[in-house]
Amino acid sequence: MTAPRILLFDSGMGGLTVASAVRQAEPGATLIYAADNAAFPYGAWDEPQLVKRIVAVVGKLIDEARPDLVVIACNTASTLALTALRERYTVPFVGTVPAIKPAAEQTKSGLIGVLATPGTVNREYTKTLIHTYAFHCKVFLHGAKRLAEIAEAKLKGQKVDPDELKLEIAPVFRKRDHKQTDVVVLGCTHYPLLLDEMRAVAPWPVTYIDPAPAIARRVSDLLRTAKM
Ligand code: DGL
Repeated sequence: MTAPRILLFDSGMGGLTVASAVRQAEPGATLIYAADNAAFPYGAWDEPQLVKRIVAVVGKLIDEARPDLVVIACNTASTLALTALRERYTVPFVGTVPAIKPAAEQTKSGLIGVLATPGTVNREYTKTLIHTYAFHCKVFLHGAKRLAEIAEAKLKGQKVDPDELKLEIAPVFRKRDHKQTDVVVLGCTHYPLLLDEMRAVAPWPVTYIDPAPAIARRVSDLLRTAKM
């Protein structure tokens, strides 16, 4: 049996957080990582143009890398382009979307924060996830303008400014009727790269949900089902 080829795609280095979970779950697989740096950040793009770009770039990567499975390791791309990608290409896709369902299951206060890019926050997909799984919760959605860039800069060796970070995450830390946000969804694959820094500047401790382990499980399930 040859090693399955898994292509992981993101706008930048955020998808590496997913790649490392997939590497742990599938140590024998061949991982191919592609970042559309030329178009980073995706969070600020206009939807019709971005969907066209993602379909074109991923198509080219599929031609070149011949993967058995593609992981769209980017919430901003998945919430917009997964349907178009599945319609256009026959290879199986695993997407990354904000972990609203597990957050709604884990919250005790009923107050959930969702940090994501402005693009992901505005998507119908994200609103549908909230209406379906967190209708009984109060969800504070925040489109963070700079967080993904701060994470990229950190990976390039730059220092994270704690004051800037604090301002970026503050809108999801809220209080209502003697209760406060207790779960924060990391709705962009770049954000787990800043987890230590976020914990250090957060107004109070919360549970942060990184979807990477769940994505890796989904990848393993698909590989087993397809017997790759
Ligand atoms: N890593 C991407 C995500 O999960 C987004 C970063 C960007 O704005 O390009 O949403």
